[in-house]
Amino acid sequence: MKNIILCGFMGCGKTTVGKALEQRTGMKNIDLDAYIEQKAGMTVSEIFAAHGEDGFRAMERDACAELSAAGGYILSLGGGTVLFEQNCAALKQNGVIFLLDISLDEAKRRLKDVTDRPLLMRPDRDEAVTALYTARRPAYQNAADVIIDGEQTPDKVAADIDNAFKARC
Ligand code: S3P
Repeated sequence: MKNIILCGFMGCGKTTVGKALEQRTGMKNIDLDAYIEQKAGMTVSEIFAAHGEDGFRAMERDACAELSAAGGYILSLGGGTVLFEQNCAALKQNGVIFLLDISLDEAKRRLKDVTDRPLLMRPDRDEAVTALYTARRPAYQNAADVIIDGEQTPDKVAADIDNAFKARC
């Protein structure tokens, strides 16, 4: 069995939808950031502070390679994971990638007050979200096998993904 892989911008609902899909399908949900944090014994913010973004990306790359070896899981990625070709190649070997697509305005609304995204801890957060979202959206669309409307309720997003996954596998 393949993996269900969730990608998309910060705040698109990957973690929440991963849990809803776990309930719905019985497949185990693995949150990539939580997996990295557990292995490193540090939060993502602490990893960025101690090792920089490059250090975090190296851990993310290792985690993708490890988790792509098996199938039958739900993998909730980080917002930057599929921007790296090596990660996409590893993940696609054994999985179907779903993009949880949300608008820029919705991303801004959802990310307004978060404190656990190191890339957004800057005074010009609004501009940073616009720049990152605009630069990344084509890469998300390119990486995805299936694009899902991420602004629906988490249960509806999970149902859409479950149906599309079953139709493909
Ligand atoms: C990142 C998104 C975060 C986390 C890290 C980097 C990104 O995950 O992996 O802060 O580059 O967009 P979420 O998308 O779950 O917030």
